[in-house]
Amino acid sequence: MKKITKICCIGAGYVGGPTMSVIAKMCPHIKVTVVDINQARIDLWNDSNLEHLPIYEPGLKEIVAATRNKNLFFSTDVDAAIDEAELIFISVNTPTKTFGKGKGQAADLKYIELCARNIAKVASTDKIVVEKSTLPVRTAGAIKNILDNTGQGVRFEILSNPEFLAEGTAIQDLMHADRVLIGGDDTPSGQAAKDALSAIYENWIPKERILQTNVWSSELSKLVANAFLAQRVSSINAISALCEKTEANIQEVARAVGFDSRIGSKFLNASVGFGGSCFQKDILNLVYISQSLGLPEVADYWEQVILMNDYQKRRFAENIISTLYNTVTDKKIVFYGWAFKKDTNDTRESAAIYVADALLEERAHLSIYDPQVKEQTVFRDLDFLNTRTPEENRHLITVAKEPLQDVKDAHAIAILTEWDEFKTYDWEKIYDKMLKPAFIFDGRRLLDKEKMETIGFQYYTIGQV
Ligand code: NAD
Ligand code: UGA
Repeated sequence: MKKITKICCIGAGYVGGPTMSVIAKMCPHIKVTVVDINQARIDLWNDSNLEHLPIYEPGLKEIVAATRNKNLFFSTDVDAAIDEAELIFISVNTPTKTFGKGKGQAADLKYIELCARNIAKVASTDKIVVEKSTLPVRTAGAIKNILDNTGQGVRFEILSNPEFLAEGTAIQDLMHADRVLIGGDDTPSGQAAKDALSAIYENWIPKERILQTNVWSSELSKLVANAFLAQRVSSINAISALCEKTEANIQEVARAVGFDSRIGSKFLNASVGFGGSCFQKDILNLVYISQSLGLPEVADYWEQVILMNDYQKRRFAENIISTLYNTVTDKKIVFYGWAFKKDTNDTRESAAIYVADALLEERAHLSIYDPQVKEQTVFRDLDFLNTRTPEENRHLITVAKEPLQDVKDAHAIAILTEWDEFKTYDWEKIYDKMLKPAFIFDGRRLLDKEKMETIGFQYYTIGQV
């Protein structure tokens, strides 16, 4: 079997950056080049100040510091990196289509196709091409077709190797992966390619955790894993609504249910709703595929996971409005958290965006504080919705530089992200500064209800009265 010594990864995003950093660290004998068409992003990956890396992820900057410009390189010279590599990861974005056939559901594969055409154009030696991005089942067929029909006569072997890292714990997840999944053809050359990729991971992942399947099982398993995870969150969130009507406590219910070893205790935290760039996108994709293949019952089943999540976000916003005497117009509400979960600066599909939008439609004034999210990102997220003009958004919203900046005379605080630092705030001081009665809406079940009520807050959380 040929040993891989040069890797290229197309796409320097939340997956490409951390994944390749870990490969570079664990495989000093392999040269890893991460390329992207986004010059600004590559410049940040190369910035001498490691605080400027484009992605905030615990443990990442230490790994980049140890490997960058030794065996890890970031570049915009996509063509050179493709041609030099023996194995190419495609790790570009695959967002939901916003137009045309499949609008709002199907994955937009234009970036994937552009990569395939680019690889075909510049590759002058045989390559193993690895789908790292999350793709609809049977995409490998399209990639193979493009490569074989537009290439320069060199051989391409296509593998599927989906990524299962979660943001905020990406480095831990990559270092100690539950499993690595490699899908490929069962032909001798397909098997050799699977073994070559497996050999890279075997530098730090126990071999029994590296699963080999056919390419279609691998593509589909990634969508299914995300659908199952999101389904758990929607399931517990559905029960949280029931708890609020019955005086059952969602934490106690989750614990009681999760103690069953068949169910398990993880991923049962009721919340304001799941966010992130993938859960919704991947389920919508599963729904679209099921519909396209004439399976409407399967499509409807999975779509309900999304509908329940929308309901949970809406329910949280409506609870704020109804509790504040059915009007939030001109009231100041402080948001703690904007990222879709703690320990990341990623805000894609964050529940905070949708809760903010609902309150802004009622002409509330928001002050938003997140320890890792920049002002320009908050405004980009809200302007993108197109519900108000950018001027209106800037009139109604302040992005705070420090947590206590705008709590004076605030009517309410809403917690949207479970950042650990929120637990350490001087809540008595915050209470003193706020208008009375002072309300907290804890969308993450982060704070202690009893403690907050002793301070004097009117405290509302998910799944508990
Ligand atoms: P991202 O948007 O952070 O990064 C993608 C990068 O690809 C961008 O920087 C973009 O400029 C670049 N790109 C697009 N087209 C290109 C081209 N033709 N040539 C070179 N660069 C190009 O996306 P991400 O979050 O890293 O996700 C990438 C894929 O991984 C998606 O399919 C996603 O579903 C999947 N995934 C994401 C996560 C996650 O936690 N974010 C986890 C597992 C899987
Ligand atoms: C998720 C999966 O966990 C990863 O395995 C997968 O690789 C990734 O999607 C992907 O394909 O992009 P991620 O979205 O980064 O990872 O983060 P999660 O920890 O799964 O959280 C997703 C959302 O669900 C967050 O908004 C989180 O707050 C919410 N959540 C999670 C809950 O509300 N309750 C829970 O119990 C767990």
